[in-house]
Amino acid sequence: MAVLQRSLVLLVTFIHLSHGKLSFAKQKLHITMYTDGMYSIGVNQDTWLTSADTYIYASGTKQTGGQGLKLVETNGVSGVDKLGNWNGLTFQYLVPSINVSFHATIKVYENFVVFAQNFKTQVQGTTSGEFDSVISSFPSFGVGSGNTSLGYVSFGGNMVGDTHMKWGRFKSPDATLNYGIIGGPLVLFDSGSDAIIIAPFSQFMAASLYHDVTGNSVHWGVMGGVNTVPENYVYETILFYSPDGVNRAFSEWGRLIKFYYDKDESYRKSDLTINYLGYWTDNGAFYYYNTETNTTYERTMIDVRKYTVVEKIPYRYFQFDSWFYPKDEYGGVTTWVAMEGIFPDGLRYVWNALDLPIAAHNRYWSSQTTYAIQNGGKFKFLLEPPKAIPVDQTFWDSFHQDAKQWGLIMYEQDWLDVEFGMNITRSDIYLGREWLLQMGAGARKNDLTIQYCMSLPRHAMQSLEIPVVTQARVSGDYQPGNDQWRIGISSMFADALGLAPFKDTFWTTTNQTGNKYGKSEPNIVLQSAVATLSTGPVGPSDKIGATDLNLLMRCCNQDGLILKPSRPATAIDKQLHRLAFDDGVGPAGEIWTTYTEISGYYFGIILAADLSEMYPLTPQDTGFQFGTPKIFSYNEGHLEAMNFSEQYPLKLQDCPKEAPCVWYTSSIFQVGTNEILIYGEVNKWVTMSPQRVQEILVSDDLEIHLQGSPGELVNFAFSVNGDSIQDIYCSIGNDGTAILRFNSKNCS
Ligand SMILES: *[C@@H]1O[C@H](CO)[C@@H](O)[C@H](O)[C@H]1NC(C)=O
Ligand SMILES: *[C@@H]1O[C@H](CO)[C@@H](O)[C@H](O)[C@H]1NC(C)=O
Ligand SMILES: *[C@@H]1O[C@H](CO)[C@@H](O)[C@H](O)[C@H]1NC(C)=O
Ligand SMILES: *[C@@H]1O[C@H](CO)[C@@H](O)[C@H](O)[C@H]1NC(C)=O
Ligand SMILES: *[C@@H]1O[C@H](CO)[C@@H](O)[C@H](O)[C@H]1NC(C)=O
Ligand SMILES: *[C@@H]1O[C@H](CO)[C@@H](O)[C@H](O)[C@H]1NC(C)=O
Repeated sequence: MAVLQRSLVLLVTFIHLSHGKLSFAKQKLHITMYTDGMYSIGVNQDTWLTSADTYIYASGTKQTGGQGLKLVETNGVSGVDKLGNWNGLTFQYLVPSINVSFHATIKVYENFVVFAQNFKTQVQGTTSGEFDSVISSFPSFGVGSGNTSLGYVSFGGNMVGDTHMKWGRFKSPDATLNYGIIGGPLVLFDSGSDAIIIAPFSQFMAASLYHDVTGNSVHWGVMGGVNTVPENYVYETILFYSPDGVNRAFSEWGRLIKFYYDKDESYRKSDLTINYLGYWTDNGAFYYYNTETNTTYERTMIDVRKYTVVEKIPYRYFQFDSWFYPKDEYGGVTTWVAMEGIFPDGLRYVWNALDLPIAAHNRYWSSQTTYAIQNGGKFKFLLEPPKAIPVDQTFWDSFHQDAKQWGLIMYEQDWLDVEFGMNITRSDIYLGREWLLQMGAGARKNDLTIQYCMSLPRHAMQSLEIPVVTQARVSGDYQPGNDQWRIGISSMFADALGLAPFKDTFWTTTNQTGNKYGKSEPNIVLQSAVATLSTGPVGPSDKIGATDLNLLMRCCNQDGLILKPSRPATAIDKQLHRLAFDDGVGPAGEIWTTYTEISGYYFGIILAADLSEMYPLTPQDTGFQFGTPKIFSYNEGHLEAMNFSEQYPLKLQDCPKEAPCVWYTSSIFQVGTNEILIYGEVNKWVTMSPQRVQEILVSDDLEIHLQGSPGELVNFAFSVNGDSIQDIYCSIGNDGTAILRFNSKNCS
């Protein structure tokens, strides 16, 4: 057998600026391809993955190398495309008895590989009979076919692959990988910092993977329910390598796929519901299927608004959940309008009375939906009782146009997995994608953005082609006191796709009497911090009279503008290590990091919660790409600054859910003979936020250009020469700006 080997020598520049040193590291991804159709993936000198079977289903039969599928030719191929130069091989397969031609191509780029399946002929009878398997397999790898000391994280389930997420060692039979309709990206990593992400690269709604537990193999291909594949149909999988750990692998992979699909992030940046505080009424909210005593939802919403105006809580939009519209006996939506008993004066009236824009929730469609031609409506739907799915662009255009008339700015499409659970969506190679593209096009024409909720990894990935999908829920439904705040891993995946991760609603006070859940929320501080550090919507849902304004306003400026970090806080790589390897290395609990960048200066944030033992966090653990010689926290007017280096790790302990630990780092500013650290705005979660600080200028003085609400009082703290702390108060001017000068201790 001939061996074609291509070793990818990656020159990866790892710039580590702490202590002003610049160091380089070289790492290697190898792919070895054989002319008999086999291939393997290696990192350094070490084999990670060895190929398993290539197969397709055709004419009702599984056609494998042993039976039916013949490798007729292997060609070296190369090319250049949007992602750069590639080299590789095409394996040309044929099923001679039915003259079906199937090409499997490996394209090797710089630090990633694209595996393409090309159905050269139309193929019939392709279903495997199982929705959760695949009708075509390429690539496929043995589980534990390489170095069995690898760890994995397998995304799966709804909320962007959060609800079924699994981890462990990548070896049989221990590895339990998510597969089928709920399946998602597979992440492999070693105990150093080498990491690989394997995920669909095209046809996201039709793509799937299958973990053959008895065969110890995992296969990527088209989902198992598809029974016809058109001629020249191409499905691709990407294998992406990073030498810098899982967090960096996700952000680099994300940058690549967003570029490839031209995902326009301007919608995420400008979405009002991502930028401003909003009031939510979804599951977990005080007013979820619950009104004030003896009154309507209309009155209740208007009373919430009155309370928040009196208390000066700067909500900028209201979210209405599934309680407002009619549903059939199976919970499917019949017509997306307000029920009379809910809003007796109608949605337009309520919108005007609230004087705020609206975000609104929708479920899956009932087969009794009044919009369907079959039920006397105007639009094309496919019915599969008890559900239905629209297949008509004019439906979405008119649907979203109607909703604009009552103030809708953000459409929340929930139950995406349940809608996709119809048999027709799971058997048609195009339907799922068309449904989401049409929904997105209708929203875009009407200047709406979309939040995905209960999205499987496939929906979240499909949003790469839908610019107005700006955000997605990344964990299960909130209930007071529950643990759905653990979004540090799912946020990596969502953000990589260009989606702002949404934690879901929360309460800002512990006890809210008369709540329908009979529950309380002991972790209000954590809830408020996690929502703010997510970069997604911040949407509390307190009972009238029960908002803790001081705690809530840690999120935002006086106008309700969320003061955000530059990226979502995510779990450190060592946390994933501990989960997967269970070897006592890494934190026993949650440690997330994020940062802000302003005028080229970096400010780090570390959140730790629910640690069951002390963890000594090192600068390298943080994943920060900038120097962090000092670290500090601020408590009741006391600022504690400490050395932070590999020799002086931050000993994180006693960070229970009720009282999470939050630490900050600052660039060091030399002003005269003083060494200044900027702590920043003491009563905000993100003490140095680009939404507050426009610019930092360093000359004889340290100048901080602030923005905010006219008259807003801003309190900034500084650490001087490591010990003393100085506070400077600033009142934002009528033009919404102010300049704080450190030496002159003033503001103008
Ligand atoms: C497997 O990977 C580990 C960690 O990267 C490495 O130390 C070890 O040498 C590898 N084992 C083999 C058999 O290559
Ligand atoms: C098989 O299909 C190819 C096109 O893919 C066609 O050119 C050829 O004639 C077919 N052969 C037979 C025997 O039908
Ligand atoms: C609610 O209405 C019921 C029936 O009209 C009445 O008995 C009850 O006193 C009312 N409760 C309040 C708090 O107004
Ligand atoms: C969906 O497919 C399954 C399995 O093939 C079948 O048992 C079921 O009856 C189908 N449901 C509908 C609504 O067609
Ligand atoms: C909440 O109520 C419980 C039970 O009544 C009480 O023990 C606790 O102190 C209350 N917590 C707060 C923050 O008010
Ligand atoms: C912090 O680091 C500085 C410089 O490396 C050193 O002089 C000082 O002693 C350290 N402080 C503590 C508390 O270890």
